[in-house]
Amino acid sequence: MGKLIGVLASGAGSNLQALLDARLPVVAVASNVSGAGALERAAGARIPTAVFRLEAYADRDARDAAMADWLEARGVRLVVCAGYMQLLRPAFLGRFPGAVVNVHPALLPAFPGAHAVADALAAGVDESGATVHLVDYGVDTGPVLRQERVPVHRDDTLESLHARIRQVEHRLLPSVVRELIEA
Ligand code: GRF
Repeated sequence: MGKLIGVLASGAGSNLQALLDARLPVVAVASNVSGAGALERAAGARIPTAVFRLEAYADRDARDAAMADWLEARGVRLVVCAGYMQLLRPAFLGRFPGAVVNVHPALLPAFPGAHAVADALAAGVDESGATVHLVDYGVDTGPVLRQERVPVHRDDTLESLHARIRQVEHRLLPSVVRELIEA
């Protein structure tokens, strides 16, 4: 079956859902946000969940180390950030070397950061896209694994453009993750 997957998510969890629908071996879902939609989706699929709110720990390193412990205890070998909106500390990345991937709603290196879709719209570009990349210590700076272009329409809103990008993410992310766990 390949490597077991742990997912980190802060939001609605539509990318998590795409991984589940692709029947990938997701065995643990962690969030920094209690009540995140992703947690409900995981619970619906009977996958163990845990919340690691920053406020519950002495600092980011302590939170990230606890999260790594929890994932490791469940046999996780590949970590997928699917709308996880916090930077991961070396205390986490050092535990899963070369095995943390992220999906980002822009064509990196263009528009890194938490407001990629809004930034692309504000810049007036006529295409943006989706990127799956390895996570390193920077903000959306790790090596790109795969990208796909998405057109930006003149009448696009944040919502309409993000919806078009999400559709691509939902195809791209499961496909790259499948390759990584089978490698
Ligand atoms: C995705 O567009 C992802 O690229 C970005 O946040 C969004 C998360 O969406 N980092 P969801 O929670 O998977 O629906």
